[in-house]
Amino acid sequence: MICLGIESTAHTFGISVIKYTKKLEVLSNVRDLYTTESGDDVEGMIPFKVSQHHLDCCDSVFKKSLELANVKLSDIDLISFSQSPGLGHTLRIGSMFAKFISRIYDIPIVGVNHCIAHLEIGRALAQDSFGKGCKDPVLLYASGANTQIIAYAEGKYRIFGESLDIGVGNFLDTLARYMGLGFPGGPKLYELSKKFTTKNHRVINVPYSVKGMDVNFGGILTFLKRKYDSKEYNSIEIAYSAQEYVFAMLIEVSERAMAHCGKTELLLGGGVACNLRLQEMAKIMCSERNGKCFILPNEFNVDNAAMIAYLGCLVFKSTGPGKIEDLDISPYLRTDDVDVTWR
Ligand code: ATP
Ligand code: FE2
Repeated sequence: MICLGIESTAHTFGISVIKYTKKLEVLSNVRDLYTTESGDDVEGMIPFKVSQHHLDCCDSVFKKSLELANVKLSDIDLISFSQSPGLGHTLRIGSMFAKFISRIYDIPIVGVNHCIAHLEIGRALAQDSFGKGCKDPVLLYASGANTQIIAYAEGKYRIFGESLDIGVGNFLDTLARYMGLGFPGGPKLYELSKKFTTKNHRVINVPYSVKGMDVNFGGILTFLKRKYDSKEYNSIEIAYSAQEYVFAMLIEVSERAMAHCGKTELLLGGGVACNLRLQEMAKIMCSERNGKCFILPNEFNVDNAAMIAYLGCLVFKSTGPGKIEDLDISPYLRTDDVDVTWR
Protein backbone atom coordinates (compact mmCIF):
# COMPACT_ATOMS: atom_id res chain seq x y z
CA MET A 1 0.00 0.00 0.00
CA ILE A 2 1.06 3.59 -0.61
CA CYS A 3 0.54 5.97 2.31
CA LEU A 4 0.91 9.73 2.55
CA GLY A 5 1.96 10.88 6.03
CA ILE A 6 1.58 14.38 7.46
CA GLU A 7 3.56 15.60 10.48
CA SER A 8 2.75 18.86 12.28
CA THR A 9 3.11 18.37 16.06
CA ALA A 10 5.54 21.26 16.55
CA HIS A 11 8.18 23.15 14.55
CA THR A 12 8.31 20.72 11.61
CA PHE A 13 5.79 20.51 8.79
CA GLY A 14 6.50 17.31 6.90
CA ILE A 15 4.90 15.18 4.20
CA SER A 16 6.16 11.76 3.24
CA VAL A 17 5.09 9.08 0.80
CA ILE A 18 5.92 5.48 1.75
CA LYS A 19 5.29 2.10 0.24
CA TYR A 20 4.62 -0.65 2.74
CA THR A 21 3.88 -4.25 2.00
CA LYS A 22 6.12 -6.52 4.06
CA LYS A 23 8.97 -4.02 4.07
CA LEU A 24 8.96 -0.27 4.48
CA GLU A 25 10.17 1.79 1.52
CA VAL A 26 10.38 5.55 2.01
CA LEU A 27 9.67 7.16 -1.39
CA SER A 28 9.90 10.75 -0.14
CA ASN A 29 10.31 12.45 3.22
CA VAL A 30 10.07 16.23 2.84
CA ARG A 31 10.18 18.62 5.79
CA ASP A 32 10.19 22.33 6.36
CA LEU A 33 11.46 23.49 9.73
CA TYR A 34 10.49 26.66 11.57
CA THR A 35 13.72 28.26 12.81
CA THR A 36 14.93 31.56 14.22
CA GLU A 37 18.35 33.09 13.77
CA SER A 38 20.84 34.03 16.47
CA GLY A 39 21.11 37.67 17.50
CA ASP A 40 18.01 39.68 18.34
CA ASP A 41 15.52 37.16 17.02
CA VAL A 42 15.90 34.63 19.81
CA GLU A 43 12.31 34.16 20.89
CA GLY A 44 12.03 30.42 20.11
CA MET A 45 8.71 28.86 19.16
CA ILE A 46 5.68 31.14 19.34
CA PRO A 47 2.70 28.84 18.50
CA PHE A 48 0.84 31.20 16.15
CA LYS A 49 4.04 31.99 14.24
CA VAL A 50 4.84 28.30 13.86
CA SER A 51 1.34 27.53 12.60
CA GLN A 52 1.65 30.43 10.14
CA HIS A 53 4.91 28.87 8.94
CA HIS A 54 3.11 25.53 8.40
CA LEU A 55 0.32 27.26 6.48
CA ASP A 56 2.85 29.06 4.30
CA CYS A 57 4.83 25.94 3.37
CA CYS A 58 2.19 23.16 3.33
CA ASP A 59 1.36 23.28 -0.38
CA SER A 60 4.99 23.39 -1.54
CA VAL A 61 5.98 20.55 0.83
CA PHE A 62 3.03 18.53 -0.46
CA LYS A 63 3.91 19.13 -4.12
CA LYS A 64 7.59 18.33 -3.56
CA SER A 65 6.80 15.14 -1.67
CA LEU A 66 4.55 13.77 -4.44
CA GLU A 67 7.08 14.77 -7.11
CA LEU A 68 10.02 13.14 -5.33
CA ALA A 69 8.03 9.96 -4.75
CA ASN A 70 6.89 10.08 -8.36
CA VAL A 71 3.27 9.34 -7.43
CA LYS A 72 -0.06 11.03 -8.12
CA LEU A 73 -2.80 11.59 -5.56
CA SER A 74 -4.79 8.83 -7.27
CA ASP A 75 -1.99 6.36 -6.31
CA ILE A 76 -2.39 7.06 -2.58
CA ASP A 77 -4.22 4.31 -0.62
CA LEU A 78 -4.10 5.88 2.82
CA ILE A 79 -3.56 9.22 4.55
CA SER A 80 -2.05 9.29 8.03
CA PHE A 81 -1.57 12.39 10.16
CA SER A 82 -0.12 13.15 13.58
CA GLN A 83 -3.16 13.43 15.84
CA SER A 84 -1.36 13.60 19.20
CA PRO A 85 0.46 14.97 21.21
CA GLY A 86 1.73 18.44 20.31
CA LEU A 87 0.87 22.11 19.98
CA GLY A 88 -2.84 22.59 19.28
CA HIS A 89 -2.09 25.39 16.81
CA THR A 90 0.16 23.28 14.61
CA LEU A 91 -1.63 19.90 14.99
CA ARG A 92 -4.73 21.61 13.60
CA ILE A 93 -2.97 22.61 10.36
CA GLY A 94 -1.84 19.03 9.62
CA SER A 95 -5.17 17.53 10.59
CA MET A 96 -7.10 19.97 8.41
CA PHE A 97 -4.81 19.32 5.46
CA ALA A 98 -5.17 15.52 5.90
CA LYS A 99 -8.96 15.61 6.30
CA PHE A 100 -9.38 17.90 3.32
CA ILE A 101 -7.49 15.57 0.96
CA SER A 102 -9.19 12.52 2.42
CA ARG A 103 -12.66 14.00 1.91
CA ILE A 104 -12.12 15.49 -1.56
CA TYR A 105 -10.27 12.50 -3.03
CA ASP A 106 -12.10 9.85 -0.99
CA ILE A 107 -8.94 8.31 0.49
CA PRO A 108 -9.09 6.40 3.82
CA ILE A 109 -7.57 8.27 6.75
CA VAL A 110 -6.06 7.40 10.15
CA GLY A 111 -4.66 9.58 12.96
CA VAL A 112 -1.62 8.40 14.93
CA ASN A 113 0.42 9.17 18.03
CA HIS A 114 3.67 10.96 17.27
CA CYS A 115 5.70 9.47 20.17
CA ILE A 116 4.80 5.91 19.21
CA ALA A 117 5.68 6.71 15.59
CA HIS A 118 9.24 7.48 16.77
CA LEU A 119 9.41 4.00 18.30
CA GLU A 120 7.87 2.12 15.37
CA ILE A 121 10.09 3.75 12.73
CA GLY A 122 13.02 2.66 14.92
CA ARG A 123 11.79 -0.94 14.95
CA ALA A 124 11.51 -0.77 11.16
CA LEU A 125 14.71 1.04 10.20
CA ALA A 126 17.24 1.43 13.05
CA GLN A 127 20.40 -0.67 12.93
CA ASP A 128 23.13 -1.69 15.34
CA SER A 129 26.81 -1.50 14.37
CA PHE A 130 26.47 -4.83 12.50
CA GLY A 131 23.57 -3.55 10.41
CA LYS A 132 21.00 -5.66 12.28
CA GLY A 133 17.56 -4.37 13.30
CA CYS A 134 15.80 -4.45 16.68
CA LYS A 135 12.65 -6.30 17.75
CA ASP A 136 11.62 -5.25 21.23
CA PRO A 137 13.74 -2.31 22.37
CA VAL A 138 13.63 0.13 25.23
CA LEU A 139 13.29 3.51 23.53
CA LEU A 140 15.16 6.52 24.86
CA TYR A 141 12.93 9.14 23.29
CA ALA A 142 14.80 12.41 23.62
CA SER A 143 13.26 15.26 21.69
CA GLY A 144 12.42 18.91 22.23
CA ALA A 145 9.12 18.57 24.00
CA ASN A 146 9.43 14.98 25.19
CA THR A 147 11.88 12.94 27.21
CA GLN A 148 10.62 9.47 27.98
CA ILE A 149 11.94 5.95 28.44
CA ILE A 150 9.38 3.73 26.74
CA ALA A 151 9.04 -0.03 26.41
CA TYR A 152 6.31 -2.43 25.33
CA ALA A 153 4.54 -4.42 28.02
CA GLU A 154 1.10 -6.06 27.95
CA GLY A 155 -0.57 -4.28 25.06
CA LYS A 156 0.75 -0.77 25.65
CA TYR A 157 3.89 1.26 25.27
CA ARG A 158 4.62 2.02 28.92
CA ILE A 159 6.59 4.97 30.18
CA PHE A 160 9.23 3.72 32.62
CA GLY A 161 10.80 7.08 33.25
CA GLU A 162 10.41 10.63 32.00
CA SER A 163 11.26 14.24 32.52
CA LEU A 164 9.26 15.78 35.33
CA ASP A 165 9.51 19.21 33.75
CA ILE A 166 10.84 20.20 30.31
CA GLY A 167 12.12 17.89 27.54
CA VAL A 168 15.89 17.55 27.17
CA GLY A 169 15.82 19.25 23.74
CA ASN A 170 13.84 22.10 25.23
CA PHE A 171 16.49 22.36 27.94
CA LEU A 172 19.29 22.50 25.33
CA ASP A 173 17.36 24.98 23.17
CA THR A 174 16.55 27.30 26.08
CA LEU A 175 20.13 27.27 27.33
CA ALA A 176 21.47 27.93 23.83
CA ARG A 177 18.99 30.75 23.28
CA TYR A 178 20.06 32.32 26.59
CA MET A 179 23.63 32.15 25.37
CA GLY A 180 22.59 33.96 22.16
CA LEU A 181 23.06 30.91 19.91
CA GLY A 182 19.57 30.84 18.25
CA PHE A 183 17.13 27.98 17.69
CA PRO A 184 17.37 24.98 17.50
CA GLY A 185 20.16 25.06 20.05
CA GLY A 186 21.00 21.35 20.45
CA PRO A 187 23.29 21.19 17.39
CA LYS A 188 24.89 24.56 18.29
CA LEU A 189 25.78 23.41 21.82
CA TYR A 190 27.16 20.19 20.35
CA GLU A 191 29.46 22.12 18.00
CA LEU A 192 30.72 24.20 20.93
CA SER A 193 31.23 21.13 23.12
CA LYS A 194 33.57 19.62 20.52
CA LYS A 195 36.01 22.46 21.21
CA PHE A 196 36.38 21.32 24.83
CA THR A 197 39.85 20.06 25.84
CA THR A 198 40.84 18.95 29.34
CA LYS A 199 44.00 21.04 28.98
CA ASN A 200 42.27 24.36 28.32
CA HIS A 201 38.84 23.98 29.90
CA ARG A 202 37.14 23.05 33.18
CA VAL A 203 34.11 20.80 33.70
CA ILE A 204 31.39 22.51 35.73
CA ASN A 205 30.07 20.54 38.69
CA VAL A 206 26.43 20.53 37.54
CA PRO A 207 23.67 19.30 39.94
CA TYR A 208 22.79 15.77 38.78
CA SER A 209 19.03 15.33 38.90
CA VAL A 210 17.68 11.77 38.74
CA LYS A 211 14.69 10.96 40.95
CA GLY A 212 13.89 7.25 40.88
CA MET A 213 13.34 6.61 37.17
CA ASP A 214 12.60 10.24 36.37
CA VAL A 215 14.78 13.21 35.53
CA ASN A 216 14.35 16.96 35.54
CA PHE A 217 16.21 19.81 33.92
CA GLY A 218 14.74 23.06 35.28
CA GLY A 219 17.18 23.38 38.16
CA ILE A 220 20.16 22.60 35.94
CA LEU A 221 18.97 25.25 33.48
CA THR A 222 18.82 27.94 36.17
CA PHE A 223 22.21 26.84 37.51
CA LEU A 224 23.89 27.07 34.09
CA LYS A 225 22.24 30.40 33.23
CA ARG A 226 23.78 31.79 36.44
CA LYS A 227 27.18 30.41 35.49
CA TYR A 228 26.81 32.09 32.10
CA ASP A 229 25.79 35.43 33.67
CA SER A 230 28.64 35.35 36.18
CA LYS A 231 31.18 34.81 33.34
CA GLU A 232 32.87 32.33 35.68
CA TYR A 233 32.89 29.76 32.85
CA ASN A 234 32.99 30.23 29.08
CA SER A 235 30.43 28.98 26.54
CA ILE A 236 32.48 25.91 25.60
CA GLU A 237 32.64 24.80 29.25
CA ILE A 238 28.91 25.40 29.71
CA ALA A 239 27.97 23.52 26.53
CA TYR A 240 30.25 20.57 27.32
CA SER A 241 29.19 20.26 30.98
CA ALA A 242 25.49 20.57 30.14
CA GLN A 243 25.72 17.69 27.66
CA GLU A 244 27.86 15.43 29.86
CA TYR A 245 25.56 15.71 32.86
CA VAL A 246 22.12 15.57 31.27
CA PHE A 247 23.09 12.77 28.86
CA ALA A 248 24.55 10.75 31.76
CA MET A 249 21.21 11.14 33.54
CA LEU A 250 19.33 9.84 30.47
CA ILE A 251 21.68 6.89 30.02
CA GLU A 252 21.39 5.96 33.71
CA VAL A 253 17.60 5.71 33.61
CA SER A 254 17.66 3.93 30.23
CA GLU A 255 20.00 1.30 31.66
CA ARG A 256 17.77 0.82 34.68
CA ALA A 257 14.70 0.40 32.43
CA MET A 258 16.54 -2.25 30.38
CA ALA A 259 17.46 -4.14 33.55
CA HIS A 260 13.93 -3.85 34.97
CA CYS A 261 12.21 -5.07 31.78
CA GLY A 262 14.85 -7.69 31.01
CA LYS A 263 15.32 -6.20 27.54
CA THR A 264 18.67 -6.15 25.79
CA GLU A 265 18.01 -3.61 23.04
CA LEU A 266 18.20 0.16 23.38
CA LEU A 267 16.81 2.35 20.61
CA LEU A 268 17.52 6.08 20.40
CA GLY A 269 14.85 8.36 18.96
CA GLY A 270 13.84 12.02 18.84
CA GLY A 271 15.83 15.02 17.64
CA VAL A 272 18.38 14.90 20.47
CA ALA A 273 19.26 11.34 19.39
CA CYS A 274 21.15 12.99 16.49
CA ASN A 275 23.74 14.08 19.05
CA LEU A 276 26.90 12.00 18.52
CA ARG A 277 27.96 12.29 22.16
CA LEU A 278 24.62 10.89 23.35
CA GLN A 279 24.98 8.08 20.78
CA GLU A 280 28.50 7.33 22.03
CA MET A 281 27.39 7.15 25.67
CA ALA A 282 24.46 4.88 24.75
CA LYS A 283 26.75 2.52 22.82
CA ILE A 284 29.21 2.30 25.73
CA MET A 285 26.43 1.55 28.24
CA CYS A 286 24.94 -1.16 25.99
CA SER A 287 28.26 -2.85 25.30
CA GLU A 288 29.07 -2.92 29.04
CA ARG A 289 25.88 -4.87 29.75
CA ASN A 290 26.07 -7.09 26.62
CA GLY A 291 23.18 -5.23 25.07
CA LYS A 292 22.77 -3.66 21.64
CA CYS A 293 22.28 -0.05 20.74
CA PHE A 294 20.18 0.89 17.69
CA ILE A 295 20.52 4.19 15.89
CA LEU A 296 18.45 5.72 13.10
CA PRO A 297 19.66 7.95 10.28
CA ASN A 298 19.13 11.55 11.45
CA GLU A 299 16.24 12.19 9.05
CA PHE A 300 14.19 9.65 11.06
CA ASN A 301 15.35 10.86 14.49
CA VAL A 302 14.05 14.38 14.05
CA ASP A 303 10.35 14.97 13.53
CA ASN A 304 9.45 13.49 10.16
CA ALA A 305 6.36 12.42 8.28
CA ALA A 306 7.70 9.01 7.16
CA MET A 307 7.23 7.68 10.70
CA ILE A 308 3.67 9.03 10.71
CA ALA A 309 2.92 7.31 7.40
CA TYR A 310 4.48 4.04 8.59
CA LEU A 311 2.54 3.93 11.88
CA GLY A 312 -0.57 4.84 9.86
CA CYS A 313 -0.09 1.65 7.82
CA LEU A 314 0.28 -0.46 10.97
CA VAL A 315 -2.85 1.05 12.52
CA PHE A 316 -4.84 0.73 9.28
CA LYS A 317 -3.87 -2.93 8.86
CA SER A 318 -4.99 -3.76 12.41
CA THR A 319 -8.12 -1.63 12.86
CA GLY A 320 -9.07 -0.23 9.44
CA PRO A 321 -9.65 3.44 8.61
CA GLY A 322 -10.87 6.07 11.06
CA LYS A 323 -13.98 8.22 10.63
CA ILE A 324 -13.16 11.86 9.92
CA GLU A 325 -15.61 13.04 12.58
CA ASP A 326 -13.82 10.91 15.23
CA LEU A 327 -10.35 12.17 14.36
CA ASP A 328 -10.07 15.26 16.51
CA ILE A 329 -6.57 16.30 17.49
CA SER A 330 -5.49 15.32 21.01
CA PRO A 331 -2.67 17.67 22.11
CA TYR A 332 -2.15 16.06 25.54
CA LEU A 333 -2.64 12.33 24.86
CA ARG A 334 0.01 10.23 26.60
CA THR A 335 1.97 7.38 25.04
CA ASP A 336 0.54 4.85 27.53
CA ASP A 337 -3.06 5.85 26.68
CA VAL A 338 -2.78 4.34 23.20
CA ASP A 339 -3.92 0.73 22.64
CA VAL A 340 -1.25 -1.03 20.63
CA THR A 341 -3.45 -3.13 18.35
CA TRP A 342 -0.79 -3.95 15.75
CA ARG A 343 1.67 -5.95 17.90
P1 ATP B 1 8.63 16.00 19.76
O1 ATP B 1 7.37 16.56 19.16
O2 ATP B 1 8.83 14.56 19.44
O3 ATP B 1 8.82 16.34 21.17
P2 ATP B 1 10.27 18.01 18.69
O4 ATP B 1 9.15 18.78 18.14
O5 ATP B 1 10.93 18.60 19.82
O6 ATP B 1 9.81 16.59 18.94
P3 ATP B 1 12.50 16.85 17.22
O7 ATP B 1 12.85 17.15 15.81
O8 ATP B 1 12.25 15.44 17.58
O9 ATP B 1 11.29 17.81 17.51
O10 ATP B 1 13.62 17.37 18.19
C1 ATP B 1 14.08 18.68 18.16
C2 ATP B 1 15.14 18.83 19.21
O11 ATP B 1 16.30 18.09 18.84
C3 ATP B 1 15.56 20.26 19.41
O12 ATP B 1 15.52 20.53 20.79
C4 ATP B 1 16.99 20.28 18.87
O13 ATP B 1 17.82 21.20 19.56
C5 ATP B 1 17.43 18.86 19.12
N1 ATP B 1 18.53 18.44 18.27
C6 ATP B 1 18.56 18.28 16.94
N2 ATP B 1 19.79 17.92 16.53
C7 ATP B 1 20.55 17.82 17.66
C8 ATP B 1 21.91 17.51 17.95
N3 ATP B 1 22.76 17.19 16.97
N4 ATP B 1 22.29 17.52 19.24
C9 ATP B 1 21.43 17.83 20.24
N5 ATP B 1 20.16 18.15 20.03
C10 ATP B 1 19.73 18.15 18.77
FE1 FE2 C 1 9.21 14.15 17.66
